[in-house]
Amino acid sequence: MLDVVPDLAVRRGEGRTGVDPADEPDRRQLGGAHQTHWDAMATQEFSTASPPTGVGLEGLREAARHCRACPLWEPATQTVFGEGPVDARVVLVGEQPGDVEDRKGEPFVGPAGRLLDRALDDAGIDRKQAYVTNAVKHFRFTQTGKRRLHQTPGSEHVVACRPWLDAELALVNPELVVCLGATAAKALLGNQFRITKQRGQLMPFEPPRSGAGTLFDGGDDEDAAVHSTWIMATTHPSAVLRVGDDLREAAYDALVADLRVGLEALA
Ligand code: URA
Repeated sequence: MLDVVPDLAVRRGEGRTGVDPADEPDRRQLGGAHQTHWDAMATQEFSTASPPTGVGLEGLREAARHCRACPLWEPATQTVFGEGPVDARVVLVGEQPGDVEDRKGEPFVGPAGRLLDRALDDAGIDRKQAYVTNAVKHFRFTQTGKRRLHQTPGSEHVVACRPWLDAELALVNPELVVCLGATAAKALLGNQFRITKQRGQLMPFEPPRSGAGTLFDGGDDEDAAVHSTWIMATTHPSAVLRVGDDLREAAYDALVADLRVGLEALA
């Protein structure tokens, strides 16, 4: 089995820092399974993932299956790793797998994924040629009866999972990174980034390096394409699904318009 022993920055759940209070369930109102689940999460340790080097995307995917860097692995069905060609020019980064993705083991294959597919198509981007992944590779949810309700990942989950995203970006070395929603945008552009104010803006981006002597040893660095990389953020497809009927078409059009701006960076 590949070495994915978590290292560094080991923190206890009870001492977590940087957790958005909006992400914290109200424990007084949680009973039964909620309480048990929350208490179990609160006592587990957080660390950061340690992707193996020189194993390619398939090796990373296999290693990520065993990741225990944060407690999200336990209630989740499986790790949902990124998908797409290693020579993709575009990387799309979402937040975390949803309920459908958690069951199927693939990113963006549920309702948000269908909307994303349509938007990419309308923008002229071929999803099959893009690499699609998430900032967090396990589904975070609370269980209410049979329903699993999405919970936004906390910054501690994003930090723990970040080395997987960095390793993917280093290997794919794209020309354009599109952050879908605030979690991905904050992960890659910093906590101060505001989708509402800065969406659709292309910015230069320095992807993590792959190559001998670096953290993400991609092996034969002579083949590494030399090009500029751009990054931009836009709204998450789920947000388009959530807005009222009267606003949905405009929200969808704005998403497509942002994706078209991204496409221009490839020209
Ligand atoms: N939302 C995401 O952010 N990612 C997925 O893979 C699915 C839904």
